[in-house]
Amino acid sequence: MSQKIKKILKLKRKRKIVSLTAYSKNYAKLLDKYCDIILVGDSMANVLYGMPNTQNISITNIIQHSISVQKGIKKSLFVVDMPKGTYETISQAKKNAKLILKKTKCDAIKIESNKKNFKIIREFVKSKIPVMGHIGYTPQFKKKFKVEGKTKKEMQKLITEALLIEKAGAFSIVLECITPKTSKIITNLLKIPTIGIGSSSYCDGQILVTDDILGLSGFYPKFVKKYANLNRVIENAVKKYSKDVKNKKFPKTKNFLYGK
Ligand code: KIV
Repeated sequence: MSQKIKKILKLKRKRKIVSLTAYSKNYAKLLDKYCDIILVGDSMANVLYGMPNTQNISITNIIQHSISVQKGIKKSLFVVDMPKGTYETISQAKKNAKLILKKTKCDAIKIESNKKNFKIIREFVKSKIPVMGHIGYTPQFKKKFKVEGKTKKEMQKLITEALLIEKAGAFSIVLECITPKTSKIITNLLKIPTIGIGSSSYCDGQILVTDDILGLSGFYPKFVKKYANLNRVIENAVKKYSKDVKNKKFPKTKNFLYGK
């Protein structure tokens, strides 16, 4: 197990784990100082590529953005999402996970759960591929958004799934949009850290999509806190630039590269 993963494991019940997504080097560089985990999420499908869901992003896209992100990371644990359709069989999953690890130099990969994927996790671990699980609302496999774990039956299913994922050898698990009560039970039961998104403060850590907290994505459900309004900042800058160009205020002679 790598030192970086050991460090994440040690944080459980000591202090909350800070995680965010990044899709490019400049973002990763800014996040690295303050995050424990940086994830290249398949959420890039919606956020960057304007797709209606995360189900059609390609492994080429994921690898390309991860290569960029890797250049901005010095200390955080660097995790890359496996896109839908790339881990349907054990041999396909291992081949693609190895490709992602080799090309991006990431520390670990993440796969969403469809109730059976703990078997893939077990095979990854046997092949020394560090892996993070992901349960609850798993956008790769679910068509409609729903808060998970409300009924006793749902709660039990999620608990069983989380325990199977831990037993399979995942070093951590994302809990997405799971009720506070179920998240609390899972977090207390597991030895590995739980990272919540829309799953309350009972989780061992939190993850959000960076563009959402910066006010860039236009997606602000209740579980997101907007920490900045970059939409407005960027729009103002572009407006000023546009005005300057039209009024011949930019470029000035000081911006000329040679002579007058
Ligand atoms: O794709 C993603 O960004 C994610 C998280 C937000 C957990 O899977």
